[in-house]
Amino acid sequence: MGWKTLDDMDLNGKRVLIRVDINVPVADGVVTDDTRIQRIVPTVRDVLAAGGKPILLAHFGRPGGERKMDLSLQQLVPALETAFGAAVRFAPDCVGAEAEQAADALPSGQVLLLENTRFHAAETKNDAELAAGMAKLGEVYCNDAFSAAHRAHSSTEAIARLLPSCAGRLMQAELEALEGALGDPKRPVTAVVGGAKVSTKLELLGNLINKVDFLVIGGGMANTFLVAKGLNVGKSLAETAMKDTAAEILAKAESAGCTIVLPSDVIVAAEFAANAAYEVLPTNQCTDDGMILDAGPESVAAISDIFAKSRTLIWNGPLGAFEIAPFNAATDAAALKAAELTRAGKLVSVAGGGDTVAALNASGAAADFSYISTAGGAFLEWMEGKTLPGVAALEG
Ligand code: 3PG
Ligand code: MG
Repeated sequence: MGWKTLDDMDLNGKRVLIRVDINVPVADGVVTDDTRIQRIVPTVRDVLAAGGKPILLAHFGRPGGERKMDLSLQQLVPALETAFGAAVRFAPDCVGAEAEQAADALPSGQVLLLENTRFHAAETKNDAELAAGMAKLGEVYCNDAFSAAHRAHSSTEAIARLLPSCAGRLMQAELEALEGALGDPKRPVTAVVGGAKVSTKLELLGNLINKVDFLVIGGGMANTFLVAKGLNVGKSLAETAMKDTAAEILAKAESAGCTIVLPSDVIVAAEFAANAAYEVLPTNQCTDDGMILDAGPESVAAISDIFAKSRTLIWNGPLGAFEIAPFNAATDAAALKAAELTRAGKLVSVAGGGDTVAALNASGAAADFSYISTAGGAFLEWMEGKTLPGVAALEG
């Protein structure tokens, strides 16, 4: 890992530009899930404790280069003050004279939040001039936004090349957890990959079959694999056009020594509705008008056995249509098994992705996982084996 941490930097009396991801859900001006805010607290506190002046750079939503005031970061000031236990000042732009004055005038012990970087169209173009404008505001750059590190933007990439740079505590924790799960893991390693479509997770599956011992496939994408094996999936969500690709993945996995685990029994309903009547059927007996909405109990038992003989688990995507009961059953049961093994010190479990984290939180399993990533897209790209520009720039 070629990046520095806060411990390697001289922070005393320095203005420290911290790129954070506070792209949190907000309803009527109130933050509805403050996880991402909570997770940047250690970095802000450590910078303050070292005598540094934290200046936060962040995006919010996708304003597309316009000053859309419903996407102003100012609305997060109260939530940030509560989380940091420190006063948070706000500057109405992330570059320019007003921001420079605010940065210069920042008293020690306080935090400065800069306005949404994406109010500038140049931000998402990784524009060097915009980055130079931001770099003027600080003496040190700290990237704590792992979940935005898959974006090569002025505030995540170009700026890291202009100032002495380091990873923040959350970035560090994310990279260490992911490296532990896929870089140099304790074996056997199992990956769970779920979600609706094979087409969005092709690169992921291609990378994983060369890295993991067991690959559990769930959700709608499992149906495409069932089709590839010549099984009837009735009215289920499936990408039949992808069936040859799925067959190729199965063949490649076999030669790579990776065991692909598909459901042996399934939950079949006539409609996707809350508490719809359903049947548990062997996977090869789905009816023409049936819809597969979850893995069945026999599949869950098989997955639990695989977890029990694994030492590392990496999880992205639910096993079924978890948003609606009872089709969350397989995801919940498997997640609770992983939580139990983790609690017992037998398994290192890492999960990421918006849906995944929502599902693990709902089952109560998340608290016992070794690590829950704050990242969605970045977690996926990392699992795909891609270099994340925001991380690469720190390695400079
Ligand atoms: C996220 O919420 O996934 C990150 O903040 C990145 O946001 P983006 O997908 O709009 O770049
Ligand atoms: Mg995203």
